[in-house]
Amino acid sequence: MATNDDTAAAQHVPKEFPPIPSLESLHKRLQSLSISEEIPVFPESNPTTNPVDIYRCIIAHHLAPITGVDINLVYPALEWTQTLDKGDLIVAAPRLRIKGRKPDELAKEWAEKFPESPYLERPKADGTFLRFYFKNSVLNNVVLSSILNRKENYGPINSGKGKRVIVEFSSPNIAKPFHAGHLRSTIIGGFLANLHEICGWDVIRMNYLGDWGKQFGILSVGFKRFGDEQKLVEDPIHHLYDVYVAINKVIEAEKEVEKAKAEAAGVKQTYNGPTDDEARAFFASMEAGDEAAVALWGRFRDLSIEKYKDTYARLNIKYDVYSGESQVSKEAMDTVSKLMKEKKVSEESDGALIVDFLKHGAKKLGKAIVQKKDGTSLYLTRDIGAAMERYEKYKFDKMIYVVATQQDLHLQQLFKILDLLGFEWAKKCQHINFGMVLGMSTRKGTVVFLDDILQEAKERMHDVMRKNEDKYSQVEDPEYIASTVGRTGVMIQDMSGKRINNYTFDMDRMTSFEGDTGPYLQYAHTRLCSITRKANVPIEKIEKADLSLLTEPHATNLVRCLAQYPDVLQQTLKTLEPTTVVTYLFKMTHLLSSSYSVLHVISSEDDVKFARLALYESARIVLHNGMTLLGLVPVDRM
Ligand code: ARG
Repeated sequence: MATNDDTAAAQHVPKEFPPIPSLESLHKRLQSLSISEEIPVFPESNPTTNPVDIYRCIIAHHLAPITGVDINLVYPALEWTQTLDKGDLIVAAPRLRIKGRKPDELAKEWAEKFPESPYLERPKADGTFLRFYFKNSVLNNVVLSSILNRKENYGPINSGKGKRVIVEFSSPNIAKPFHAGHLRSTIIGGFLANLHEICGWDVIRMNYLGDWGKQFGILSVGFKRFGDEQKLVEDPIHHLYDVYVAINKVIEAEKEVEKAKAEAAGVKQTYNGPTDDEARAFFASMEAGDEAAVALWGRFRDLSIEKYKDTYARLNIKYDVYSGESQVSKEAMDTVSKLMKEKKVSEESDGALIVDFLKHGAKKLGKAIVQKKDGTSLYLTRDIGAAMERYEKYKFDKMIYVVATQQDLHLQQLFKILDLLGFEWAKKCQHINFGMVLGMSTRKGTVVFLDDILQEAKERMHDVMRKNEDKYSQVEDPEYIASTVGRTGVMIQDMSGKRINNYTFDMDRMTSFEGDTGPYLQYAHTRLCSITRKANVPIEKIEKADLSLLTEPHATNLVRCLAQYPDVLQQTLKTLEPTTVVTYLFKMTHLLSSSYSVLHVISSEDDVKFARLALYESARIVLHNGMTLLGLVPVDRM
């Protein structure tokens, strides 16, 4: 069988992590603020890319001798808080495990002993907590200069250096609708791929198409009867689906006839009619490698992929590999079946091969068929072969399957079998699951294609935009903006909650500017763009601004929030939840929107104006970075 990804591993060039600023440059900057205390760099810290790490280093360095606890335990005990009034970093006294002393007394004692520092206000003991607050003069400087220098590179640290991850996502089935599960997989998977990539991982984006099995026999037979060459070329995804639906109707009708015949004759129904037979025979000829059969199927596959590529491009997604069930080689499948027998993972049952997980200490996984009576493979078997091939080809450090929670059992069975077969890399496989989308339908009907959803979101957005005639007349390319913002609405709705939660698809809400929606985020971005545009100040003035002029609580809270972004990314690598980023961005944009009425730009004196522009421009950069990470395209005007 033709594989199109043989050279992918060799050809794949990882994105390079942008150069990291030197510690000297940071020390120079601090000296310019008259701070001579050098940063006592802790091995795992990244003070030049994550400003909060500067404070972790300083606090841990002073707190270790005060508490008598090893610095390696103090450093990770520094935690961030839910709200800024609780401090920028805190230590819960019990975490340092000091025996025989009351934690609240310890916190008080440590607060008193903590030395004066140019970086920090006096720490506060609050019950068993020790709360640290960053001094805003230094913080403004290190945070805003870091953002303005690093721009689109502000946020990630190079934690994935030298590691490779395969993210398998979307994975629709050819000739079947691209349903909500595929939409979620596409959105979440695209995000996870971006996340790993910006954090220095070598990311392989993989689409594992459902492109093999008896349904392709059915489809081919259907195409012979109902197919239309022109429609196939123009719109393969819809056309193949229509053909598939039409031929299935024929098969169902014939089945009914045969059922009635069998009932009348008082025998068990074994024959489903001529069309079903024809389809089965066609798939058998595909499996046998019949040239004409494989060629027809290959056209369906290729044309569908071409079309999907367009749609994915609209979502900013580009795959490294279009793999699929059909691409798993015969050799891999043979190896799987041999290994399973050898290692006594599988056993015979009624002529088929099964895995009885009860016998392997995993009762809750039940039993699974891995080879049918007629020797043909199944979805699960192909996944085993595919995983083996991927490891051989890519030697991944991690492989993520982004698949709906309906397939939890399937993936657990897969990972268990890989483990039973003795592959040490089985533990590097991870299933990222997600809940359902309820009530997804479009004006046109209940079967949903991704393209139709995006189209409808765009039309709705366009309607909303037209309502503001003034603004609308200033937008250069309303079609493009409507489609970009509409898509943002769809994606933000999907990424707002925890992945595992179901949510209700609500076109009205997702295209609204009220509440925490995609359009709101886009609006926040355009507003920041317009501030800079209207101020029309050369960027050098902004970069050299006197940041000590940012003294209002609104300004300092915003800076403290911007400082958290690198930590948010580190946290997201742990949760693998888009909502970790989404929640942060809404928190930040809420702080912003309450700042506008306090931190004026145009009417302020030049010095203050420049400092505030530095703040707003930094906020814009962070918002831009976060949105891009989520797979969105921030717009400048709307
Ligand atoms: N094509 C499958 C479906 O639509 C999803 C594939 C998930 N990935 C996997 N390796 N099994 O249900």
